[in-house]
Amino acid sequence: MASSAAAAAATDRIALVKAFDETRTGVRGLVESGVSAVPVIFRHPDPYASVPLAPPGVSIPVVNLSLPAPLAAEAAAGAARDWGFFYLVNHHALVPSGFTAGLLAAVRAFNELPAAERAAHYGRSVDGGVSYSSNVDLYRSGAASWRDTIQVVLGPSRPDAERIPAACRAEVVGWDAHGTAVARAVMALLCEGLGLRGETLEEASCLEGKLMVCHYYPVCPEPERTMGIVPHTDPGVLTVLAQDGVGGLQVKHTNEDGESYWVDAKPVPGALVINVGDLLQIMSNDKYKSVEHRVVMKSHEEARVSSAIFYNPGKRGDSVFYGPLPDLISSGNPPKYRNFTMSEFLGAFFKRDLASKALIEHFKI
Ligand SMILES: *[C@@H]1O[C@H](CO)[C@@H](O)[C@H](O)[C@H]1NC(C)=O
Ligand SMILES: *[C@@H]1O[C@H](CO)[C@@H](O)[C@H](O)[C@H]1NC(C)=O
Repeated sequence: MASSAAAAAATDRIALVKAFDETRTGVRGLVESGVSAVPVIFRHPDPYASVPLAPPGVSIPVVNLSLPAPLAAEAAAGAARDWGFFYLVNHHALVPSGFTAGLLAAVRAFNELPAAERAAHYGRSVDGGVSYSSNVDLYRSGAASWRDTIQVVLGPSRPDAERIPAACRAEVVGWDAHGTAVARAVMALLCEGLGLRGETLEEASCLEGKLMVCHYYPVCPEPERTMGIVPHTDPGVLTVLAQDGVGGLQVKHTNEDGESYWVDAKPVPGALVINVGDLLQIMSNDKYKSVEHRVVMKSHEEARVSSAIFYNPGKRGDSVFYGPLPDLISSGNPPKYRNFTMSEFLGAFFKRDLASKALIEHFKI
C-alpha cells in the first residue's frame, strides 16, 4: 500500500512538473499569473532548519586586486584556504566600470519581457550552446527551486551567438571576455599562493572549459517554503559571479571552534564573488576548499539577478589526466586524490544529485 501511494505521488509530481515546464514561461510566468502560494513542486521540506545563520558582522573575506601581486596572492590563497569564497575588488583594469550592472540589467530585461517572447526561447536542449529554462535539473531534483536560467556553453566550443536572446546578447559576449580576464588573474594569484608558476592552471586548460549561467529569481509569495538554489558545491575549478543588490547568496563556513553556519555574501557594490570548485580542491591537494553555498529568497519586492561563469579544464581527451598538481606533491605532501579523465569526472558529477557533496569523495585515495 505505502509503496503504491508513493508511486502515485511520484506520478502526480511528474505530471505537475511537466505541466509547469510546458507553460514555457518559467517561475516568472507563475508570478505573472498571480500565484499567492508556492506551488507544491517548489516546496522544500524544512528548507532553512539544518544549520544556523552566522552571528552579525561575520563576512567572507575581501581580496584587493590592486595590491602588489605578492600581497594579493597571499590574500587570495588565505581566503581560498579558510573560506573557499571571497569578494574581489579593484578589478577595474579587467572589467570596465558599470559593466556588470549593465549585464545584470540586460538579464533582468530578458526575464521581464512579455511571456510570449520568453516562451519563444524556452527549451532544455543546449543546441548551439544556449538554453533558457526553469531549473536545469527540473526532472531530476526532488523539489524545484525558485529560479529561471539562461545557460551558455562558452567553451571549449564557442556558442552560436545568434541563439543568445537579443535582450542580453552583447552583454553575455562581453561578460565572457571580462570574466575570463578576471579568472586568469585570480588563477595566477591562486597558483602563486601554492608556490607554483602563475600560468600552471591556465596551461592545464582551466580557462578553456566554461559555462555561463544567468539566473533570475522572481519575487516569491512564500519565501520560507522554497529555495533559490539548494546547498551545493561547484564541481569545476573556479567560479566568477556577478550579483545585483538584492542578496540571498549564503556560504557555509566552519570557524576555528568547529561551528558551522551560513554567512550572507551580501552584495558589495562593484565587487565580484569568487569561489573555489571541487576540481581546484583536488588539484590543490586540499590546500584550497570547495565549500557549500545556496541562495535563499530574501525579498518580497524585487527579483534577484546574478550571472556566474564556471571555469573547467577544456582538454578532455581520454589520455589527459587531472588530479593533485604534480609540483605540489612530495613525500611530506602525498596525493590525497587519484588521477582521472574529465569524462570520468563529469560522469561522476551527472550521476549525483546537485545537493550532495559526494563528488570529491569519489576520487579520494
Ligand atoms: C586596494 O589597494 C589599493 C593599493 O594599495 C588601495 O589604494 C585601495 O584603497 C585598496 N582598496 C580597498 C577597497 O581596500
Ligand atoms: C597522477 O599523474 C601524475 C603525472 O601527471 C603523476 O606524477 C602522479 O604520480 C599521478 N598520481 C597518482 C596518485 O597516481
